[in-house]
Parts: sequence; C-alpha cells; structure tokens
Amino acid sequence: MKLSDIEGRTLVISGGTRGIGKAIVHEFASNGANIAFTYNSNEELAKEQVKELETTYGIKAKAYSLNILEPLTYKDLFKRIDEDFDRVDFFISNAIISGRAVVGGYAKFMRLKPKGINNIFTATVNAFVVGAQEAAKRMEKVGGGSIISLSSTGNLVHIDNYAGHGTAKAAVETMVKYAATELGELGIRVNAISGGPIETDALRAFTNYEEVKAKTAELSPLNRMGKPQDMAGAALFLCSDKASWITGHTLLIDGGTTFR
Ligand SMILES: NC(=O)c1ccc[n+]([C@@H]2O[C@H](COP(=O)([O-])OP(=O)(O)OC[C@H]3O[C@@H](n4cnc5c(N)ncnc54)[C@H](OP(=O)(O)O)[C@@H]3O)[C@@H](O)[C@H]2O)c1
Repeated sequence: MKLSDIEGRTLVISGGTRGIGKAIVHEFASNGANIAFTYNSNEELAKEQVKELETTYGIKAKAYSLNILEPLTYKDLFKRIDEDFDRVDFFISNAIISGRAVVGGYAKFMRLKPKGINNIFTATVNAFVVGAQEAAKRMEKVGGGSIISLSSTGNLVHIDNYAGHGTAKAAVETMVKYAATELGELGIRVNAISGGPIETDALRAFTNYEEVKAKTAELSPLNRMGKPQDMAGAALFLCSDKASWITGHTLLIDGGTTFR
C-alpha cells in the first residue's frame, strides 16, 4: 500500500546512487514519489538508476551531478530541479565524502588536520544548510515540507578514526534544531536520522570494517548490523503525515547498540 501523502510529491536527495541514499530513493519511489537525486562520480550508475526507477515504479526520476564540497552549487542544482519538477516537498541531505577529501579528518585524534576536518564539516554541515535553504524556499510555495539530515551515532559513542565525522554530525544535529525552530511557521519539519553502523561502501572503507561488523552484531540485541533499508523506513516515516508533530528531533536507528 502506498502512503497517500508521499505519492505524487517530490523528493530531492543528495548521494542517491549508493548505500543509504539508494535505499531511500527506492523506498520513496515505491510509494509513488518523484525523485531528484544527485551523484558525484558514478554518472553511469545514476543513469541506470533513473531508468530502473521509472520502469519499476512508474514515477519521474532525474539524476544531477553535485559536489557537496562546493555547497553553493546547490543553488544551481535547485534551479535545474525547478525546470524538471513542479514542486519540492522533501529534502534529504545524505551524501558524504570519502577518499582523499577526508585525509586528516578520518584519523585518530593526534593525526587530525584542519583541512580534513574542514572538508568533512563543509560536506556535512554547510551542504545541509545551503541545500535545506534552497529546498525550504520551494516548500514554502507548496505550503510546507520535510527536511532530513543523515547523522551518525559516532557523535554519541567512540568509533575509531571518526572524530572529524562524529563532530560534524553533532554539529549538524544542532543545526537541524535551529532550522526546525525557524522553519516550523512555514509548515516545514526538520529532523535528523542517526544511524549506527550500516552495511554500505562508506563503512566497508573503514580500515577496521570486519571488526566493526562483528562488534555491532554482538552489541545489538537484534544480532546484526544495520542495513540501508533500516534507515530508509525511518526517512519515509519522518516525511509522512504520520510524523506530523515531530520536528527538531534526532531519531536513532542503531539496533539498540548505543545503550550497550
Ligand atoms: N554507513 C554507515 O554506517 C552510516 C551510519 C550512519 C550514518 N551514515 C550516514 O549516511 C549517509 C550516507 O552514507 P552511506 O554509507 O550510504 O555512503 P556511501 O554508500 O559511501 O554513498 C555515498 C554517496 O554520496 C555520494 N558522494 C560521494 N562524494 C560526494 C561528493 N563529493 N559530493 C556529492 N556527493 C558525493 C556518492 O555518489 P557517487 O556514487 O556518485 O560517488 C554516494 O551516492 C552519510 O551522511 C553517512 O554519514 C552512514
């Protein structure tokens, strides 16, 4: 059964090609939402996904190139989305950087370097701010909407080498509360979904991936690590009318691991 408050609406999401972003795209498309998603390096993958979404779910889908290390480019992105879609209802700031851009940010405390930390902050907080501002201008025109930032329990519990990301996620959760407080009068709800370790490429790039996987399954009363679909269900709920009085909140999706 499709959710009627999702069907026919438009989701804009960064990083929709892989991992959690891809699962969210499919969750919303299967509920009849039209999808504007971004990619960074995987143009071929993005094009294939557009075809797959349109054929499988009969919705409209478009892929756009975006680099979250250049947050102001969100302004041009939304202008292009305006040409292709008649409304914006949901915005999810999901993409995350990896590889060379996180050198000096994804590191133990004594190896942290300002450039790496700044890159992670830009990709996590500044990209959320500019993307959400542009989305909110469109949502105001249709009487409201829902904005979500991805976060991580790495700002609550220690994860090896995660100081740069964990700190930026703590910051974005606070930014979410400010946005929620100031955008509520426009009918716009703003929340974060904070995941424990979820099986994706980003996590597989962790130097101690196997250890994290085993430890997560051991810590979780559900005896497994998280799947991208676990996050997608929460995103759908928060964008639906079922979450109509939830704003400024961070929803933990951690398989019960954080309390252990
Ligand atoms: N995995 C976890 O354990 C976990 C847990 C909690 C929270 N999260 C959060 O969930 C979100 C998604 O993580 P994930 O694990 O699904 O990541 P992922 O599988 O590595 O996917 C990353 C996505 O971001 C895009 N991307 C990479 N560099 C980019 C750039 N410079 N500009 C714009 N887009 C870029 C990628 O596009 P291309 O395919 O084109 O490169 C891809 O779509 C992140 O915010 C992450 O912090 C993850």
